[in-house]
Amino acid sequence: MAFLEIQNLEVFYGKACSLHKVSLSVEKGEIIGIIGPNGAGKSTLLDSILGLTHCYGEILFDGTNLRDLSSTEIVRRGIAYAPEARNLFSYMGVKDNLLIGAYRAKRNKERNLQMVYDLFPILSKRGNQEAKTLSGGEQQMLSLGRALMSNPRMLLVDEPTIGLAPLVCKEIAQVLKNLNQENGITIVITEQNVNFALTLSEKIYLLETGTIKMKGRPDELKQETYIQETYFGS
Ligand SMILES: Nc1ncnc2c1ncn2[C@@H]1O[C@H](COP(=O)(O)OP(=O)(O)OP(=O)(O)O)[C@@H](O)[C@H]1O
Ligand SMILES: [Mg+2]
Repeated sequence: MAFLEIQNLEVFYGKACSLHKVSLSVEKGEIIGIIGPNGAGKSTLLDSILGLTHCYGEILFDGTNLRDLSSTEIVRRGIAYAPEARNLFSYMGVKDNLLIGAYRAKRNKERNLQMVYDLFPILSKRGNQEAKTLSGGEQQMLSLGRALMSNPRMLLVDEPTIGLAPLVCKEIAQVLKNLNQENGITIVITEQNVNFALTLSEKIYLLETGTIKMKGRPDELKQETYIQETYFGS
């Protein structure tokens, strides 16, 4: 069985179905990209892994069915989430935002804080600055840093590049790659920035209107006429 195995996941908001029998698997040590347009269900999928939706189907992580667990317990098992729009505590300082991420890893909080500052040196210079006054790129780094404070084995990142300049996207990509290769963290990202996802991921799922429409390696998907026409306009 894969590290994360999702089988026939369905999510309804009222009568509207946002995910239709979605199945996917993530092996330990992989970087997986989930691409798709606005409203495809990308955030709903990550929210569901964290136990934040009412859903049907199976979500198995390292052999345990997460559907029976609270979000706190899911984080304790080793999953961390950097959500869309970063959801920072706007009026709190950078360091305090990070420390909140360590609420399940209190014993390691100083070590983890140093690890995050080493990954994103700019954050160490902004320790007391309110999160809402950070630039978009710094906020994304803080969101990732906060997620990493819980010592995750798997990191979920919702649209890390949204609103960021190409150079900052490159920096984020490099950090995610290092976390994967050096720290062995399994990573699931969602993206509308198809190029970013194709460059970073080993396996891609295309999600459209709540359904997995295609899956494959980036080089395979790049050859698909549908992807070229819909996502690259060629
Ligand atoms: N809390 C909610 N209540 C009602 N409908 C919701 C809720 N959250 C999401 N939806 C609906 O579910 C569908 C999927 O939304 P979701 O946010 O998962 O898409 P997305 O792929 O993350 O889009 P985006 O790229 O714009 O963030 C949309 O039609 C959305 O309106
Ligand atoms: Mg979203």
